[in-house]
Amino acid sequence: MKINKKLGVVVCILTTVTLGVAATSPKSAVTHYTNLKVLPKDISSKNLQQIMVDDFQDGLGVTCSFCHANAKDGHGLDFASDAKPEKEISRAMMRMTMGINKKYFKLKHPLIGSEALTVTCNTCHKGEAFPDGAEGQK
Ligand code: HEC
Ligand code: HEC
Repeated sequence: MKINKKLGVVVCILTTVTLGVAATSPKSAVTHYTNLKVLPKDISSKNLQQIMVDDFQDGLGVTCSFCHANAKDGHGLDFASDAKPEKEISRAMMRMTMGINKKYFKLKHPLIGSEALTVTCNTCHKGEAFPDGAEGQK
């Protein structure tokens, strides 16, 4: 009886503390990407950066501006804009890549950027934007 009471007090305090922390903690962990249609909307900035740099930039041998349009105010790139067709083509390529992994390599939840993928952008692109099959002609 006594022990139960003490336990109740402890649980009560812990709950209060936890709720307090949850209420005051800053929302800094939540990212603010506004135009994700294929990637998870709550993706961390670390994971998104990794995909953009390792999979896309290096996989295709291009820089960010190959897919991302210039900002209207002339300062840098507008990453949320869909003005460049290369961005929409990339979305189709992302869906295709996930589809290949799912259908032919039996991955249940293939996600772009995941280590588990058998086929990635780089499998076909090998550091080039235009995999034209010229390699095979040699
Ligand atoms: C091969 C094309 C390609 C390249 C290169 C590329 N991106 Fe992206 N990026 C995309 C696509 C496609 C999306 C949207 C993904 C989606 O809809 O889920 C995107 C989305 C983003 C977003 C999220 C924008 C928003 O608010 O919705 C950021 C930020 C971003 N890219 C940054 C970069 C940076 C920085 C680089 C260079 C290091 C880069 N990207 C290179 C294709 C590219
Ligand atoms: C199964 C092979 C394959 C995979 C995987 C693949 N691509 Fe492609 N991609 C191609 C081929 C082939 C072309 C050229 C198509 C053409 O010339 O019409 C191409 C073209 C593109 C282009 C258009 C270049 C241009 O301007 O014409 C972009 C952008 C692109 N891929 C992005 C990606 C991204 C990003 C990924 C990974 C999410 C990816 N691709 C995965 C085969 C692939």
